[in-house]
Amino acid sequence: MEKIEMQDTYINKIKNIINNQKYGILTMGCQLNENDSERISGILETAGFTKTQNLEEANVIVFNTCCVRENAEDKLFGKLGEVKKYKEQNGCIIAIGGCMMQEKHIVKKLKESYPFVDIIFGPHTLKNFPEDLYNAIIEKKKIEDILDIDGEIIEGIPTVREDKIKASVTIMNGCNNFCTYCIVPYVRGRERSRNPQDIYDEVVSLAKQGYKEVTLLGQNVNSYLVSEKSKGENVDFVVKMQNGEEFKVNSFATLLRLINTVEGLERIRFISPHPKDFTDDVIEAIKDCDKVCKLIHLPLQSGSSEILNSMNRKYSKEQYLTLANKIKEKIPNIEFSTDIIVGFPGESEKDFEDTLDVVSKVKFEQIYMFIYSRRVGTVADKMENQIDEKIKHTRFDKLKKLAEEIIEEKNKEYIGKTEKVLVEGKSKTNSNIYTGRTETNKVVNFEGKEELVGKVIPMQIISEHMWYLKGKYDNI
Ligand code: 5AD
Ligand code: SF4
Repeated sequence: MEKIEMQDTYINKIKNIINNQKYGILTMGCQLNENDSERISGILETAGFTKTQNLEEANVIVFNTCCVRENAEDKLFGKLGEVKKYKEQNGCIIAIGGCMMQEKHIVKKLKESYPFVDIIFGPHTLKNFPEDLYNAIIEKKKIEDILDIDGEIIEGIPTVREDKIKASVTIMNGCNNFCTYCIVPYVRGRERSRNPQDIYDEVVSLAKQGYKEVTLLGQNVNSYLVSEKSKGENVDFVVKMQNGEEFKVNSFATLLRLINTVEGLERIRFISPHPKDFTDDVIEAIKDCDKVCKLIHLPLQSGSSEILNSMNRKYSKEQYLTLANKIKEKIPNIEFSTDIIVGFPGESEKDFEDTLDVVSKVKFEQIYMFIYSRRVGTVADKMENQIDEKIKHTRFDKLKKLAEEIIEEKNKEYIGKTEKVLVEGKSKTNSNIYTGRTETNKVVNFEGKEELVGKVIPMQIISEHMWYLKGKYDNI
C-alpha cells in the first residue's frame, strides 16, 4: 500500500498567478467519479478558483468522464462542441479527465478532432492535476498525462463536497473481476485497498463536520484487502480509534464494524459488493451494526445461469437466489437493490425470462437497468451473437414495467408504517416541503422545518407515489 502526497507547491504557484478566476466541472458516470470530481474541485478551490455552473464564464473547464456505457461518449463529444466557442471567446483552459481517457482510441480521436483541448489526464494521474494545470496556464502547453499502470492510493487531496449531510468515501480502487461486458478493469486497473486508518480518519472528520451518512465506495467493496492478502501482504491492521482504543481490521466486515463506532454518524451504505464475495462475516456485520442501512445493493446483471457464465460473473441463478434468501433469513427486514443488463450477447427469450423470474422472486426496492453497450477491448464486444437493438429495447421496456409494478406493490406496504427518515433539506420544487430518505433509500416528502435538516426522525408514511412516499411528522 503505497501512498503519495499532494502537489502543494503547484497549488500555491497557481494561487499566486490567478486572480478572481472561476472553474466549471462536468461529471459523468458513477459515484466513484463523483468522488474524484469532489477532489478536483478541492484542488481548484484550494488554488483560489471559485465554482460556476455557467461554463461560458469559466476560466477552467474540467470534464470528468466515464466509459462504462456508450452514451457517455456521445455526451462528451457533444459538450466539447459547445465549449469550443467559449475557448475561442475567452481562451479558457479545457481539461478532460476520468476513465474514458484510459481508452487509446478516445485519446486519439480527441487529439485529431478536438485539438483545442489543453489537458488530458486519467484517474491514475489525478494527483498531478496541479502541475498539469500550472504548465497549461504558464507554458500554454498541451498536456497528455496518462498512466497505463495502476496508480497508487493517493491521500491528502483536498476535497470539496457537494452535499453537507451525505458523503462518499472511496475505500478501494480498481477491479480484478473482468466481467466480460465491463471496461472498468482495463481503465481503473487492479484492486488496491486504502489503509483502514486513513478511511477511519476521513469518516471521523466527516462526522465532526456534521455529516450523518457515508457511502463506502469501490468497484468490489467486499473484496476489500483481499487482493493485498493474496499477494502475501500483512493485512492485519491496528486502527487507533477516537477514544484511544485499538481496533483490528483485516477485511470488509471488520471495516464495517469499525466505521459503525464513529460518533455522530447515523448511517453507513456501501456500493458495490459482488455476490461471489458475499461471505458470512459480511452478513453478520451488516446484521450487528446498527448504522449499516438494511438495504443491500446486490448486482444481479442477469438471471440466467448461462448468461452469467458468459458474463464471467462466477455465480449461477440458483446461487444468487440462495444468497439473497440466506441474507433475508439472517437479517429481518432487509431489502435489496440491484443492477441488471438486458441484451447481453446470446441472451435468448428464455434467458431474459430467467431475469424476470429473479426480479419477481427477490422483489428489489430499486433496479438500475442498463441496455448492454459494446465496449471496445472487452471479451463480450468480440462475441458474435450480439442482440438486435430493437429486441434490447423491447426487453428493457418489459423489465421496466415489471420493476415498476413491484415498486408500486412495495410502496403500498409502507403506508401506515413509521420509518426513520434522514432529513436532507428542502424540496427543490416546493419551499414548504422537506425531503429525506428511509433506510431503504426511499424518498419521503413531508411538511417540516429547517431545524430537522440533518436529523433522523420517525415519520409516519401516509401515502405513496411512484418515486416518493409522503410522510407526516407530528412534532413540528
Ligand atoms: N453495458 C451495459 N451496462 C454495463 N454496466 C457495466 N458495463 C456495461 C456495459 N458494457 C453496468 C453494470 C454495472 C453498472 C455499474 O453498469 O450493470 O453493475
Ligand atoms: Fe465491472 Fe464486473 Fe468489476 Fe463490476 S465487478 S467493475 S461489473 S468487471
